[in-house]
Amino acid sequence: MSPVPQEDVNGFGYVPPVGPITSGPKQRKKSGVAAKKDESHGCPMRFVRPDLSSRCTWIANHTKPDLIAGTQGPHSIDLRKEKAGIMPTVLHAIGNTPMVRINNISKSAGLKCELLAKCEFFNAGGSVKDRIALRMVEDAEKSGQLKPGDAIIEPTSGNTGIGLALAAAVKGYRCIIVLPEKMSSEKVATLRALGAEIVRTPTSASWDSPESHISVAQRLLAEIPNSIILDQYRNPGNPLAHYDTTAEEILEQCGGKVDMVVMGAGTGGTVSGIGRKIKEKCPNCIVVGVDPLGSILAEPENLNRSDVTYYDVEGTGYDFIPTVLDRSVVDKWIKSGDKESFIMARRLIREEGLLCGGSSGGTMASAVKAAELLGPGQKCVALLADGVRNYMTKFLDDQWLADRDIIKLEDEATTWWADEKVSSLELSAPLNILPKVTVEQAIDIMVKEGFDQLPVVTGKGQILGVATLGSLKTKLLKGKVSATDPVETATYNTFKKLSLDTTLGKLNRILDTDHFALVVHRQRLYSSEHEVEEREVIVGIVTDIDLLQYITRAECGKLGSDSDSSEHELEEREVTVGIVTDIDL
Ligand SMILES: Cc1ncc(COP(=O)(O)O)c(C=O)c1O
Repeated sequence: MSPVPQEDVNGFGYVPPVGPITSGPKQRKKSGVAAKKDESHGCPMRFVRPDLSSRCTWIANHTKPDLIAGTQGPHSIDLRKEKAGIMPTVLHAIGNTPMVRINNISKSAGLKCELLAKCEFFNAGGSVKDRIALRMVEDAEKSGQLKPGDAIIEPTSGNTGIGLALAAAVKGYRCIIVLPEKMSSEKVATLRALGAEIVRTPTSASWDSPESHISVAQRLLAEIPNSIILDQYRNPGNPLAHYDTTAEEILEQCGGKVDMVVMGAGTGGTVSGIGRKIKEKCPNCIVVGVDPLGSILAEPENLNRSDVTYYDVEGTGYDFIPTVLDRSVVDKWIKSGDKESFIMARRLIREEGLLCGGSSGGTMASAVKAAELLGPGQKCVALLADGVRNYMTKFLDDQWLADRDIIKLEDEATTWWADEKVSSLELSAPLNILPKVTVEQAIDIMVKEGFDQLPVVTGKGQILGVATLGSLKTKLLKGKVSATDPVETATYNTFKKLSLDTTLGKLNRILDTDHFALVVHRQRLYSSEHEVEEREVIVGIVTDIDLLQYITRAECGKLGSDSDSSEHELEEREVTVGIVTDIDL
């Protein structure tokens, strides 16, 4: 690899070449070098953007591989592993994944072509990203940038992290994975089991904010001696892993001719690497990229316009265009939504026995649409990027799908009230408190007003959290707050929010796990003629009692009120002289 050139672009001052980000030669062996902040951005000094233009001189259709030297232009070349009887390590179980015919889904869609799935969840770590993780590690080893005892740091949505942690476990590197909160706890558990250290960042942080997984990883790089970020967003090994192996496998498995390949895009390494090789060998093949609604990777630009700001599918989509994404090889982009993705993923499991993840569902749903173009004798390959292991508590759980209105649970379909709206309930106006109210005062207000939870709201109406009996008890009894502390230090922040349009069926499911939910309404507030901000206003707090009262009152109304026949009868009873609860304590 060439030495690091310095140049000033994009206002960030310093641009290393495409590929791994190192903390620089001076920092090798030094420890505890504090990360300096770039005052203007809040991001680490020498922040390396994940969307800088590539300096890679490799050219598709032009740069020729040298199999003896093991190179192609400036890069290494990966030869496909031979199927050994006994593998020297599990890293040999990366690549050579099966291609499986999709029978039932294809038939019910009435497709004329052959629909095939490239099952990347068979890779050792469970996803397509194992390929690039191993490739980037081995390229860095070959170039001398990664040495025994070094630490690998990577910002990732999880699967690259698992691939890197797997390689690090086998090869003996320290591994630190920085991933957004959204990513499943199953991924976190797998990473921990592989010995990786994990740093979580807020899902809502944009890529160039100081809290983003990209910024945080670069800050750690400056602090941790002998560390490297392999930088999947810019590392040429990312697309090349697919150019050298995944695409070659697809071509071989399809007998050298494929008519359409459909792939999801995250960093874009898969789409670009496979797309480039396929275009070289099968120029008429249609390359389809799949991008979730809410992401901006698709072209033309107007495809990306949508109201969706959050999506639950993991592993695809971004809010910037990563350097390794070469959109010139994509003939058609399809946007996919959460609902069709999860429903198709469940169908792939149920009807084809393919234990894939949610984004695979989005890819297959898009493949089914795009493959309508193809005729008999033609082949469409959809790439299933990861497996269901990552999502056991997510889309594999009916309750999780029902909470997102993706399916309806059977027992709900038989109740008269499940489709009614929260707006039908008689909710009393909530009692809010200001953050500076003390813990003691908050408890007194709860006793006086008979509430178990009080939203903590700033003077400007921003919801900071909810002071609940549970949150106050936990912090007070453990000595984490004192009675005179402001209540905002003891609030509960993982409460659920609903709208007045939420169905009572969904509310019932939420109340199975939560004691209460906040009913909020979005309000627009003009601060001047052109400045408008959106705010959430709490319109109520809903608990089991509100739901039960609504159902029982309505049912009594329906049945006629004859249930109070005991009104004039006298009987002897045990008398309760007191009920003791947390609040008394
Ligand atoms: C779970 C998952 N990981 C990774 C990828 C591919 O990502 P990239 O574009 O970074 O190669 C996909 C694409 O569908 C995916 O669904």
